[in-house]
Amino acid sequence: MPRTEAPIGAQHFVPPDAHELDQLKAAAAHCEGCELYQNATQTVFGRGAANARVVFVGEQPGDVEDQQGLPFVGPAGRLLREAVDDAGLDPGNVYITNAVKHFRFELRGKRRIHQSPGPAHITACRPWLVAEFALLKPELVVVLGATAAKALLGPSFRVTRSRGQLMPWPASAQHPEDFPVAEIQALATIHPSAVLRADDRDAAYQSLVEDLKVGAAALA
Ligand code: URA
Ligand code: SF4
Repeated sequence: MPRTEAPIGAQHFVPPDAHELDQLKAAAAHCEGCELYQNATQTVFGRGAANARVVFVGEQPGDVEDQQGLPFVGPAGRLLREAVDDAGLDPGNVYITNAVKHFRFELRGKRRIHQSPGPAHITACRPWLVAEFALLKPELVVVLGATAAKALLGPSFRVTRSRGQLMPWPASAQHPEDFPVAEIQALATIHPSAVLRADDRDAAYQSLVEDLKVGAAALA
């Protein structure tokens, strides 16, 4: 697909009558909604409890996730699970997914270097997120980092400025009509990968846990 052409979008691949997450996952395995499916190994769909009260939304699968076919199984995932635990959230009550469901990377020699998804990929992939929300009906969505914030809250949302605050969602989205789902609460925080990259890792980790505690309190 030439770069100048807008992707056709995932809506052409989402089964309209799905009543189980597994049906969505099976259909997403064949998604060609944007060009990212061409170079990635496989679609990495969300995973977790079907009755989860909390949905975490990350950016896109990384190298490890792309190979294993599961979200957040690499270093960022380990850190996230630890933070969920330390914040007092019940890990059995959580579903984890990504704004974009194929790994976007650049080849440098044999190495695959992570490339953030662009606005067109985020928009193309959003129907999967909407379908996940429609079935999960969570009470809280935790927005992990800038890409998830672009997907769920709009391009002008600044995680650093507004993190750790509960917001009504999708009312707080730039285009709430993109999300035909029931009103819940949203909470943005930094991406666990940003904690791993931080100069002061301990402080960054603590700030992530503090934000997640706001979510835990909202569910209590
Ligand atoms: N980072 C993400 O945003 N998602 C994953 O699944 C793994 C790393
Ligand atoms: Fe489909 Fe999303 Fe993969 Fe693009 S990134 S092909 S829209 S699943």
